[in-house]
Amino acid sequence: MSEEKVRRTAVVTGGGGVIGRAIATALAGDGHEIALWDLDRGALDASRASICESHPDAFVSTHALDLTDDEAVTTAAATSASRHGGIDVLVNCAGVFYLTPIDDLDMAAWDRMLGINLRAPVVCIRACLPSMVERGGGAIVNIASISAVVARQANLAYSASKAALVRVTQDLGLDLAPHGIRVNAITPGSTDTPMIRNYDDPDAMREAMLRGSLEKYRIGIPLGRLAIPEDHAAAVAFLVSDAARHMTGQNLVIDGGQTLA
Ligand SMILES: NC(=O)c1ccc[n+]([C@@H]2O[C@H](COP(=O)([O-])OP(=O)(O)OC[C@H]3O[C@@H](n4cnc5c(N)ncnc54)[C@H](O)[C@@H]3O)[C@@H](O)[C@H]2O)c1
Repeated sequence: MSEEKVRRTAVVTGGGGVIGRAIATALAGDGHEIALWDLDRGALDASRASICESHPDAFVSTHALDLTDDEAVTTAAATSASRHGGIDVLVNCAGVFYLTPIDDLDMAAWDRMLGINLRAPVVCIRACLPSMVERGGGAIVNIASISAVVARQANLAYSASKAALVRVTQDLGLDLAPHGIRVNAITPGSTDTPMIRNYDDPDAMREAMLRGSLEKYRIGIPLGRLAIPEDHAAAVAFLVSDAARHMTGQNLVIDGGQTLA
């Protein structure tokens, strides 16, 4: 009897962003159909073009939405499930970062950061769940940050959102195990992204992050370089694969040893 391999579909939120695009590219390379969700229509189109350039056979759909709009998330899940025939993988990668010093704490900024970084991943999981249950299982990866595990100055809201996201990962690992749905997280360390490339002196910025001499990134990187988006993509590709079939509720730290000191 011939065994027909069912193609898996992965939703990647923040799929227009730098790390989301790298993750989607890796998953497409592993044979997944891809549903990219993002606020930014132009970034979505650019991600789709870039993925299809690397993997011409990839099936990539795009959905522009604001993840803080619960109804829009429900619609995106239904649309993606219908376009792709179901959802097997969800990568919660969309996120925002800005500093929130306690002496000048803007509670609207607090609400927005926790809304996008913490509440939205839970809403996305809830929306994709029925399709995963119907498929008989699935894999979810939440993109946290080293701010979940180490303190940084003026980083209150971002740290709170990412630490809670790791905790959500553990709780849902337990809650969703009976459905055969695994829930894991990755914790990226300081990553070479446009934030650095757009800086006045990108090389000086990289060096400061590497050595931990910049106040905001005060922890150095023992392995001697900043992370690149592909480091995180490889970890996500592993976590959603059958090789990680007995892992749930875990948090893989991808930081070149940044949090060891
Ligand atoms: N870059 C780093 O150094 C670093 C380090 C640790 C963790 N992270 C985490 O990795 C993830 C991706 O970061 P990145 O560097 O690729 O950032 P990025 O800004 O390139 O990508 C984030 C994407 O999320 C989207 N987004 C933001 N708010 C949204 C909303 N309300 N609705 C829909 N989409 C929305 C943006 O449009 C953007 O495309 C984030 O969760 C971030 O916190 C990044």
